[in-house]
Amino acid sequence: MACRMTAPKVTALKGRRPVVMVTAYDATFARLVDAAGVDVVLVGDSLGNVVQGHDTTLPVTLEEMIYHCRCVSRGLTCAHLVGDLPFLSYQVSDDEAMRSAGRLLKEGRAQSVKLEGGRRVAPLVRRMVEAGIPVMGHVGLTPQSVHQLGGYRMQGREDAAAAALLEDVKALEDAGVYSIVLEGIPGDLARELSAAVGVPTIGIAAGPGCDGQVLVIYDLLGMDERFSPRFLKKYAELSAVITDAVRRFGAEVKSGTFPGPEHTVHRRQDG
Ligand code: KIV
Repeated sequence: MACRMTAPKVTALKGRRPVVMVTAYDATFARLVDAAGVDVVLVGDSLGNVVQGHDTTLPVTLEEMIYHCRCVSRGLTCAHLVGDLPFLSYQVSDDEAMRSAGRLLKEGRAQSVKLEGGRRVAPLVRRMVEAGIPVMGHVGLTPQSVHQLGGYRMQGREDAAAAALLEDVKALEDAGVYSIVLEGIPGDLARELSAAVGVPTIGIAAGPGCDGQVLVIYDLLGMDERFSPRFLKKYAELSAVITDAVRRFGAEVKSGTFPGPEHTVHRRQDG
């Protein structure tokens, strides 16, 4: 497919134009965001929050990620598909991590994987890249470490933490990542980190100084009226649209106006 975005093509966007990434978890959303022309579709472990209703991403399993990647892959034509490695699928041993990443590609039909961490995971990233698995990094507010971070807090505010993040992105680039998600860090720091590496940074809650932006598709579409953090711009308010549509359906079923004659086939009718 000529339009297909690849990991090397994502890297090559650096300095040319911003990378556009959204999440998707099923084939229908995948088809719609692909038609909208996004570069990258992430099957994020955020599905633990928005699909499964957990308050962290920690319960998500590798089997679930593979399942959702496979669903999304059927909806995509042009966008690059990256699958998140879920908590505990890459931390126990490097051998297990290699198998987990390989399964996301073999069984989930992902074209690359994403994992959280900086210098700590750099040797593992190198091994994956050497095995032919493109890797997207993810530093800053890394949700799989929520308990260690003490909550979903902005990272890199202090000088030492900012310097550590600089070392992290350089180590990831050196290990061979094709791009890096910067999540939950000050905008000026995100700009500095982006300037320090030759691969595109893709920001969420990290300001405009990144080489691209990502949002969770349910957030972008305003599917949860209770969730309005400062970093989020809602491009639609679908929670109200959906509730209203289903309420009207319920009312018409109760009143007997749906289905009407135009929705009903009779035995003697043509077509
Ligand atoms: O899981 C996810 O959706 C993510 C993005 C928010 C970057 O990691």
